[in-house]
Amino acid sequence: MHIRIFRNKSIASDFIANLIVDKINSEKEFNLGLATGSTYLETYKNLVDAYKKNNVSFEKVKTFNLDEYLDIDRNHPQTYYHFMRTHLFNDIDIERKNIFFPPVDTHVYFHSFDDIIKRNKGIDLQLLGIGNNGHIGFNEPGTIFNSKTHLIQLDQSTREQNKRFFNDNIDAVPHYAVTMGIQTIMQAKEIIITAFGEKKAEIVNNMIYGRVSEMIPATILQNHSNVTVVLDLEAASVILRKRGWQDENNFYKLQNSY
Ligand code: F6R
Repeated sequence: MHIRIFRNKSIASDFIANLIVDKINSEKEFNLGLATGSTYLETYKNLVDAYKKNNVSFEKVKTFNLDEYLDIDRNHPQTYYHFMRTHLFNDIDIERKNIFFPPVDTHVYFHSFDDIIKRNKGIDLQLLGIGNNGHIGFNEPGTIFNSKTHLIQLDQSTREQNKRFFNDNIDAVPHYAVTMGIQTIMQAKEIIITAFGEKKAEIVNNMIYGRVSEMIPATILQNHSNVTVVLDLEAASVILRKRGWQDENNFYKLQNSY
């Protein structure tokens, strides 16, 4: 795992957006895996800005979102489809046919999403956030590592974490979602996992240095050959406290700009 620590989340988000822009511009086609939640809001804003400044076009880009809630209307403001439209898709030149979400129609096999990804030649770069309980996508603790896209019951802790998007009303947060599986995620050619804020500091430490275990899904990323962990100083606080600025594999460098 490559670990990059930035002074704050704005600088980190600049880094991620610029990396994505460079990759899109250097490839004929690019398949980008997307996450929702708060972590990538600034990255998406930067991507919109880059598009508006003509620094990038999304015409050749296909996107694959990690997850979607079940049992809420597709146009509900809290669906992840709606989130992505609001924060990215509506403001860039991506073609609607190139936007892919896990199927939430119960007549469709959920793992058909894996076939769609394969047919489109796989995900070049997958963006991930991390839950306070170590989830990636909505793969909650205990999800088997060889899972494909599947239906999942959300942990109470995840529903608590996400109630802020539902006017702090836990009862409004759906109980079920469809998520890319862990195997699906691990098949991405490259992964960026990002965490901001002190609340994530402990789980970030466990993800990087803990024993690989299905009880902390993000630990599986230790076995992927091309993962970059992007952190602000607060999310890095536990690893820095425990290891200083260097460990056996990584030399951490504080980046004030990228
Ligand atoms: C969202 C997703 C989740 C979030 C994670 C972090 O599509 O798959 O795994 O990335 O819960 O959420 P935030 O960014 O809100 O801290």
